[in-house]
Amino acid sequence: MTDSNLWWQTGIIYQIFPLSFMDSNGDGLGDLPGIVSRLDYIAMLGVDAIWLSPIYPSPMADFGYDVSDHMDIHSTFGTMADFDHLLAEAHRRGPRLILDLVPNHTSDQHPWFVDSRSSRDDPRRDWFIWRGPAPGGGPPNNWVSYFGSAWTFDDGTGQYYFHQFREEQPELNYRNPDVLQALLEVMRFWLDKGVDGFRVDVIALLAKDERFLDEPSNPDYRADQLVYHSLLHIYTEDQPAVHDYVRAMRGVLDAYDERVMIGELDPIGGLMSYYGADLDECHLPFNFNLLEISWEAMVVREIADAYDAALPPGAWPTWVLGNHDRRRIASRAPQGQARVAQMLLLTLRGTPTCYYGDEIGMVDAEIPPDRLRDTTGYDHPSDALRFSRDPQHTPMQWDASRNAGFSLGDAEPWLPVGADAAHVNVALQDRDPRSMLTLFRHLSALRREHSPLSVGSYRSLDPGNERVFAYERRAGSSRLIVALNFTGAPQAAELGSEGGEVLLSTELDRAGPERLSPFRLRANEGVVVRIVGR
Ligand code: NOJ
Repeated sequence: MTDSNLWWQTGIIYQIFPLSFMDSNGDGLGDLPGIVSRLDYIAMLGVDAIWLSPIYPSPMADFGYDVSDHMDIHSTFGTMADFDHLLAEAHRRGPRLILDLVPNHTSDQHPWFVDSRSSRDDPRRDWFIWRGPAPGGGPPNNWVSYFGSAWTFDDGTGQYYFHQFREEQPELNYRNPDVLQALLEVMRFWLDKGVDGFRVDVIALLAKDERFLDEPSNPDYRADQLVYHSLLHIYTEDQPAVHDYVRAMRGVLDAYDERVMIGELDPIGGLMSYYGADLDECHLPFNFNLLEISWEAMVVREIADAYDAALPPGAWPTWVLGNHDRRRIASRAPQGQARVAQMLLLTLRGTPTCYYGDEIGMVDAEIPPDRLRDTTGYDHPSDALRFSRDPQHTPMQWDASRNAGFSLGDAEPWLPVGADAAHVNVALQDRDPRSMLTLFRHLSALRREHSPLSVGSYRSLDPGNERVFAYERRAGSSRLIVALNFTGAPQAAELGSEGGEVLLSTELDRAGPERLSPFRLRANEGVVVRIVGR
């Protein structure tokens, strides 16, 4: 590891969904003191930063992504003093703290929107996107939200406001320079407190074309996709002006030491353009390319090769396998592949982000209809398209006690605990030298010890077997090979003619010298091998 590499390049990011991590006051909802009480666990994982999904005051129409005050803490999560304590305690133990910044929209309860909605003459009217009805009546144009129409009519002022998510999430108008200034102030508020950076929500949507023309239909739209995908978003996504806003945000960060900006972006669209022409936009535009693929060695290889090749010079890569919006990796990947997936995430070239619970192999939970909390995707008119993100939001599984140790009180956790909590939990895995948690800790330690894994180059290999994805990570003369068997059957791989030493197997039961040609991988096994020369 060289001195020139920054913490967000060499480190691992751990995402916490605060409602679900640890409940300290027994109300069934996770909170900040709960996170403080688990900081030793987080430090023990060997991760370098915690990213918290939104913790601001919010009516929770979209789990905090509907912010009603950007500069305070939701009472469910605690107080500002609790936040300051969390920040200080995290820093004392090591991990940095990254907050979620939601610049594209606010809650409809935010004072900015309340003002804006109060009258057409209000000074904040123009902070949001208001349009009159179309000439023949009805919404101003055909733009759609993720769930249906993107326009909601306001009876009081006789105009429509624009929203690409729920109607409780009106979108800010960045064409008004005061809006950008207000957002930059929000950033400074948290950076002054010592926050280490932001994950920025739906960053590609901030600018909208000012002509408000209809968007064309998407010829590839399938009936099983969300309404949002029925149009080609040539006027609402990736607009040129967005890069001005992102550069301004980055400018704020750059006035502080070593802070990071991570942009949330779909893999489609101009992901790479969000590094900025002069690497002056996001440090890490999220790379969601592995979130919706078929789990096959050659598919993953193709993605990893294409992504690595497309990176602008000097741009730092990043990888993600799951988050609060997507199915958990242990449920998406075929049975038995969760460990291989963790090894992939922690050995590819780039900063990995791990979603809480994935380190112990938590799966999407079954949510009985009467316990359903996320009905965001339930507004959809078609039964087949209704979805809920509850399955990946269930409480962290700490131990086999009541409520899986998530809530110390009597209240029911806000979502049911996963049915497997009695045998998939931190306490059990912590004692088990072959557990998935132990694997995660070994992988994070390996990244620290072997610079090829954190800062080395990446090159995929041809192991003579399409069921194995193998790649070399190299830094100076130090070379490692990662070989991952994507199947539930043993596979042989040609990993070269030199000598090799297994540093780590996903099964945690072998290490030491091994023939590389052929290298025998067991079912669902991945290995990290050090090349030791002939
Ligand atoms: C992306 C967030 O990850 C998701 O949870 C949220 O619903 C939308 N943005 C709207 O903020």
